[in-house]
Amino acid sequence: MTVRKAIFPAAGLGTRFLPVTKAQPKEMLPLVDKPTIQYGVEEAIASGIEQVIMVTGGGKRAIVDHFDRSVDLEHYLQERDRPDLLEILASVDQLSDRVDITYIQQKEPRGLGNAVWTARRLVEGEPCAVLLADDVIICEQRPVLKQLIDTHSKTGATVLAVRRIPREQVGRYGVIATSSSNGRVHEVTDMIEKPSPGSEPSDLAMLGRYVILPAVMEELGQTEPGAGKEIQLTDAIKRTIGRHRVVALEFEGDYYDTGTVAGYLRANLTMAMKREGLREELAPLLKELLEG
Ligand code: UTP
Repeated sequence: MTVRKAIFPAAGLGTRFLPVTKAQPKEMLPLVDKPTIQYGVEEAIASGIEQVIMVTGGGKRAIVDHFDRSVDLEHYLQERDRPDLLEILASVDQLSDRVDITYIQQKEPRGLGNAVWTARRLVEGEPCAVLLADDVIICEQRPVLKQLIDTHSKTGATVLAVRRIPREQVGRYGVIATSSSNGRVHEVTDMIEKPSPGSEPSDLAMLGRYVILPAVMEELGQTEPGAGKEIQLTDAIKRTIGRHRVVALEFEGDYYDTGTVAGYLRANLTMAMKREGLREELAPLLKELLEG
């Protein structure tokens, strides 16, 4: 079955970025001049997705407005004869012509697993993609989500995006255990969240891209026996291992973790230095700062 829908969980509170996220969605923070969530939506479109499902919560109005047309701003720019800026506006407007964007509310921020489960009725019975906007991955040749979808088409499996991370840092991530590999595709036997040093089953860390089978969604609807605790996304995927195939793809592309302040600043600096016009201005400043 083809993957037509992509869930964007965007209802988190972004507490690591306070105070800026007090009244501002984390997903709208820019990488240079484009909100992080727009990179994800562009990736989904370039990967053939037909419907984007944004899971949002209170205070996320700016995301809806961003993907909507701004008639007032258009008039303002037309009156001032600014075709260059109108073109930028049009490039955002066109996104919602190329893909249906649907919004659904997660009423309380009860975690990533619950956010994905909130979208269950919109993806009923279909495999679907999940993208975390924090993880920005740029691959000009083939978007990373397309790489995952192609792997799903070949294997029929739930597919996780993974990347090799130095052993001393891998404990910050969810890490997979594998039984065999075929090139960049690994057969997943277990998934361990933030393993303690020395207990990592591999150096393959999961990042924020998934294609999940309907069985994963069913698992998200369960609660932890006894505790009544909600099931997290990785736990739900883990519970399907044995009954359904789970593979991990070592994707190709430049990865930026914008979910922490340091990662976000690193991503901005790197992207700014790749942008013609900005690089010339920034390079001397960076040099001066380092030397000073
Ligand atoms: P994060 O933990 O990275 O986001 O969740 P957060 O909770 O907003 O950030 P901090 O930890 O407080 O700084 C990963 C993704 O899951 C979404 C977030 O919006 C983010 O895209 N999420 C998280 C939800 O949609 N709902 C939740 O209840 C929690």
